[in-house]
Amino acid sequence: LAGGNQRIWQLAGIVVEGGSGAIMLDADGNEYIDFVAAMCVGALGYGDARHARAIATQAEKVIIGGGTSAPRASLLKRIAELTPTGANLTKTQMYSGGAEAVESAIRLAKSYTEKEEVVGFWGGFHGKTAGVLGLMGSELKHGFGTMAPGLHVVPYADCYRCPFGVTYPSCGVLCAEFARQSIKRQTTNNVAAIIAEPIQGQAGEIPPPKEFLPAIKSIAEEIGALYISDEMITGFGRTGKMFGCEHSGVKPDVMTIGKSLGGGFPVTGVVSTPEITKAQPWSWPGASSSSYGGNPLAAAAADASLEIIVKDDLVGNARRVGGAMMEALQKMIDRYPFVGTVRGAGLMLSLELVSDKKTKKPLPIQARERILLAALRRGLFANPLMSRVRIDPPLVITMEQAMEGVDILDEVFQEIEKTGGWR
Ligand SMILES: Cc1ncc(COP(=O)(O)O)c(C=O)c1O
Repeated sequence: LAGGNQRIWQLAGIVVEGGSGAIMLDADGNEYIDFVAAMCVGALGYGDARHARAIATQAEKVIIGGGTSAPRASLLKRIAELTPTGANLTKTQMYSGGAEAVESAIRLAKSYTEKEEVVGFWGGFHGKTAGVLGLMGSELKHGFGTMAPGLHVVPYADCYRCPFGVTYPSCGVLCAEFARQSIKRQTTNNVAAIIAEPIQGQAGEIPPPKEFLPAIKSIAEEIGALYISDEMITGFGRTGKMFGCEHSGVKPDVMTIGKSLGGGFPVTGVVSTPEITKAQPWSWPGASSSSYGGNPLAAAAADASLEIIVKDDLVGNARRVGGAMMEALQKMIDRYPFVGTVRGAGLMLSLELVSDKKTKKPLPIQARERILLAALRRGLFANPLMSRVRIDPPLVITMEQAMEGVDILDEVFQEIEKTGGWR
């Protein structure tokens, strides 16, 4: 294996053999409560027989081809039925990677608006391909040279680490007005799309205050740009609602979907309205297809995944279990000198780890690595490697498992506090 793999797996040093629900099993027979879900991919967790059966049954019939297939027809109908009421997001094109879908959404916006530029946000993450790397609102793009032209990033509403050093709500959501002014000055007034995660994932499970995204959507309308909601992580229940945009009530023009969509199978999509998806050249024959996008196997996996998410009310489970976890995690803010805040919604939560609550300086990496390994030894797989513990378990996690995971974190934090070295 070449370099560039996720560090959490290298440090954990485990070989995943299987599992059941939210419990991951390694090749040595150890079990872990999974708070990672392969970076929010594994909505259904491990070993869902219905999902496995749907994939196996389709694999025995046909797995290739972009022609019509029964599972794809069923899937497209299902997606159209699940998208937010009143948004008319009924047309989907399928892909197999997240960045690929986001790039297609950008091509769609360019086709529809006949404009060129795209605005994203600080902390934003939309993939690592050349067409979207410039929308990465973090230092992860450093060293890759000149980005594709016409891509801009403006500050997101990260209230815990407010880029303006002001406090919500007395700030009057200054960041939204700053975005408006930045777009005026930084762009050539030729913006095809504004793209936002309704709750930022990679940046730390950051839900913006309720006014922010409606204000951003208004800016998009003012400048004649489409508003793309990147629902790769937030789509299909993770936040306790079917889609992340439902928290703010903003109706996107385009959504990008993936991760939970396939329940682990690599399948993604772009969803928009009948009117927008007619735009050319995006809708020309062959202009928006891909070799594997929505092939019968991917479609069968995704169709089964969405059926299970609805049937088992995993959206409700994310809301209930996530709500209880949030309550329990919030108690740690007062209990530990290094827990800065807890944020998120549903089963998309994070716990900021700081060496100083005033300066909010992140906990040193050595301490975060210790947390990872100490949790692992106790049977919890969690990701504390950024400046926070990200908590994104499979949507099937039970209340009991979730609370056991929180208790393990609590024990690990006690050990870290007692033994020191976290400053
Ligand atoms: C919001 C969001 N968009 C896009 C992507 C890119 O997906 P992929 O890694 O499949 O290219 C990710 C990946 O984590 C993501 O979180």
